[in-house]
Amino acid sequence: MQFKLALAFFALIAALLILLNSYPITASRDIVFSEKQSSMLEQAGVISASLAGLDSLSGDGAAQVVELLGLTDFERVMVTDAAGRVLYDTAEPGAEGKLALFGEVIRALSSERVFWSEFAGGAFVSRAAMPITRGGAVLGAVYLCERDTEQADIILSFRDRLVTVSVVAFAMACLMTVFFTRTFTARITRLSEAVRTVREGDYAYRIEPEGDDELTELSRDFNSMTETLQKTEEQRRRFVSDASHELKTPLAAIRLLADSITETENIDGATVREFVQDISSEAERLQRTTEKLLDLSRRDDGVRGGLSRVDVGETARSTLKLLEPLAAKTEVTLRLDAAEGCFIDAPADDVYQIIFNLAENAVKYNVAGGEASVSVRRGPGRVLLTVEDTGIGIPESDLPNIFSRFYRVDKARSRERGGSGLGLSIVHDAVQALGGTVSVAPREGGGTRFTVGFPAATEGGEGRA
Ligand SMILES: Nc1ncnc2c1ncn2[C@@H]1O[C@H](COP(=O)(O)OP(=O)(O)OP(=O)(O)O)[C@@H](O)[C@H]1O
Ligand SMILES: [Mg+2]
Repeated sequence: MQFKLALAFFALIAALLILLNSYPITASRDIVFSEKQSSMLEQAGVISASLAGLDSLSGDGAAQVVELLGLTDFERVMVTDAAGRVLYDTAEPGAEGKLALFGEVIRALSSERVFWSEFAGGAFVSRAAMPITRGGAVLGAVYLCERDTEQADIILSFRDRLVTVSVVAFAMACLMTVFFTRTFTARITRLSEAVRTVREGDYAYRIEPEGDDELTELSRDFNSMTETLQKTEEQRRRFVSDASHELKTPLAAIRLLADSITETENIDGATVREFVQDISSEAERLQRTTEKLLDLSRRDDGVRGGLSRVDVGETARSTLKLLEPLAAKTEVTLRLDAAEGCFIDAPADDVYQIIFNLAENAVKYNVAGGEASVSVRRGPGRVLLTVEDTGIGIPESDLPNIFSRFYRVDKARSRERGGSGLGLSIVHDAVQALGGTVSVAPREGGGTRFTVGFPAATEGGEGRA
């Protein structure tokens, strides 16, 4: 990657430098050409007009005009007659009478204004030719040739300076490119090493984000992703260890009871019955726990019952009937205040589980003579279920964890009441799957209040699955 990046940069810089070295030179050369063209044609015009004004065209006349005009800058000034014979030539003094067979002269004799220029050999060489006319008749031609090294020198030294600057700029750009691509690829390499480290299971690994660009952003995203992974992994470990522990306790009790029966000699029938009853209740607890675990694991997998239109008030009424025997045993009064027509679209069993777990807790963690009340109301776009009790309450410090799996405020007390610490997790997951909210708060005057908000059923369509 570093190589490819560097190559792309080099190509770009080289292209830029070539452009920088060629364009200004061509442009200034063209400017000189056009300047030469206008000045030389103008001077040829002046000579031609002066010669046309003489009585007759002759070598002497031409020499006088040239001297008068002070045309010393030119390498060559030549004047010919209409036939192209040389009348005057500064380059070849003895050439008078010879034919000047230059292309420029021939074209000038046919009434053309001619200009030609080139930049070569460290000089601008320019030639101009013009007819000498009087009254429409061509009397002869003027031919000028100039060799300008001054302007050429300026352009050449400009070019040399450009080359020097380019070489320095190229070297600096190369250094910077190498430095930049190095740091860039080093950061990418660190990121991919981090990905490998985390993939190998080190979820505590974090990248030190450097700078403030897209790569920094990527590093931060990577860190937060790893943090989530770490949390999930910790949760999974804790869940597995809690679950094994939870299953181990009743199994150990069952073994102990069974061993007592087999190992006690002359055990009487009543004791055996008592032990077997204990075994049965431990087995029942095991069964309840495993059923709840299965329920939670199905929810984790996203398995859901089909939706149907459920009347929350009606479900609360039938659920509380099931809890009546427990309430009577613990001397807790159950109350229900349900408004009519509180419909939601949900799996019917989930609504039952939510109400049952909350109401069961309200009865279980209560005191003799206490109350457990359930109310169902309609709010704007919501159905509100409130379950409150006058029971033992939940300490403020335990409230944030109360929906975690296997979390119990008082382990001994909960277990003694047959609890596994999974009821509220099921409530939480079921409510969330329905797009609702659940919250818990201490009740004024003692006890606890759980509030669940369900999205109300939309008018019309029933039970979208
Ligand atoms: N209404 C309540 N009043 C006081 N404490 C409560 C109440 N509801 C729940 N708790 C506390 O929260 C803990 C977790 O409740 P959760 O319903 O999840 O488990 P559980 O009742 O112990 O067992 P499970 O419901 O699985 O049979 C309980 O052990 C209890 O300590
Ligand atoms: Mg419970």
